[in-house]
Amino acid sequence: MSAPRLWNLIAELTYRCPLRCPYCSNPTDLRSHPDALDADAWSRAFAEARALGAVHVGLTGGEPTTRRDLVQIVRAAAAADLHVHLVTAGLPILPDGLGALARSGLGSVQLSVQDAEEADSDRIAGTNAFARKLVFARAARELGLPLTLNVVLHRHNLGRIAAIAALARSLGARRLELANAQYHGFALRNRAALLPTREQLRAAASDVERERTRSAGLEILFVLPDYFADRPKPCMGGWGRKALVLAPDGRALPCHGASSLPLEFWRYPERSLRQCWEDAPGMNAYRGEGWMREPCRSCPERARDFGGCRCQAFALAGEAAEADPACALSPHHALLAAARDADAADAGDGPGFAWRTW
Ligand code: SF4
Ligand code: FES
Repeated sequence: MSAPRLWNLIAELTYRCPLRCPYCSNPTDLRSHPDALDADAWSRAFAEARALGAVHVGLTGGEPTTRRDLVQIVRAAAAADLHVHLVTAGLPILPDGLGALARSGLGSVQLSVQDAEEADSDRIAGTNAFARKLVFARAARELGLPLTLNVVLHRHNLGRIAAIAALARSLGARRLELANAQYHGFALRNRAALLPTREQLRAAASDVERERTRSAGLEILFVLPDYFADRPKPCMGGWGRKALVLAPDGRALPCHGASSLPLEFWRYPERSLRQCWEDAPGMNAYRGEGWMREPCRSCPERARDFGGCRCQAFALAGEAAEADPACALSPHHALLAAARDADAADAGDGPGFAWRTW
């Protein structure tokens, strides 16, 4: 089939990061993925992404502000006529550095915090970071950069929605993303310690509703985690359908998790971005609907969710072409429910998780 238009380039500039969050979605073999693209290579990639139709680039990682050539990278992305969005933990960059990025064409920022209070946030981050994050947020607002606050939710912070929303309001965020942990990579290793209980989720959903009524001007996003849903999410808006992830080592992927699948993806700049997007066998493996098995093949919802997440199907069912086990119609759905119930029973009271290691 012919490749669709590319809309969004997700530029993973590096997997290095000063934080050690236990739910990190980066590959667990971080050292096997060095930073292979210099600023000139990224600059050419941005121009090629624009030629494929992209209008947006997310600069992410790891922590993109560990790159010393970030100003050059931002300038190149803006010159390619892309909206430049920075996804950051708020350090090691300092306010002067953020000012330089804003003057180079940065369009918006997403700042992660791990909780609403310093001690809890730093405990999850595995380092002292919270105070620096507040400095970053204030600098972003002073520069007029639209600010999104992102908080990954799990059993240790789901009870603090009100305090998290108050923090977002006090920082002048336009948007608050309450992202329930997705159990890939390090998060899958730590699943027993992170999975919430059904009661926690129910209470959190009603806290979100209440905060929405008192947060005029703040958009709050909250989506139920797969382990407690009966239909999957349209992961990445569909495989190879809208977004391309360019990993630090130059691999062009359809999503953050695809490097764990036994598929052939191509590397940039060994091949052009157009070849990586249009012709790589891995990129085409789950495009469209031809690969689908039952129950997806004849399901009316396949045009909405594209059968869910291939990486989750591979990790849990052992076969990426299966329906996402998050779907109640999947023959593997019981696997997910059993893992949820077993992990909830095992979780205990302590943190019980291991931080990301390098
Ligand atoms: Fe989606 Fe497949 Fe489940 Fe239908 S059977 S809802 S297409 S995952
Ligand atoms: Fe790879 Fe969902 S993370 S398809």
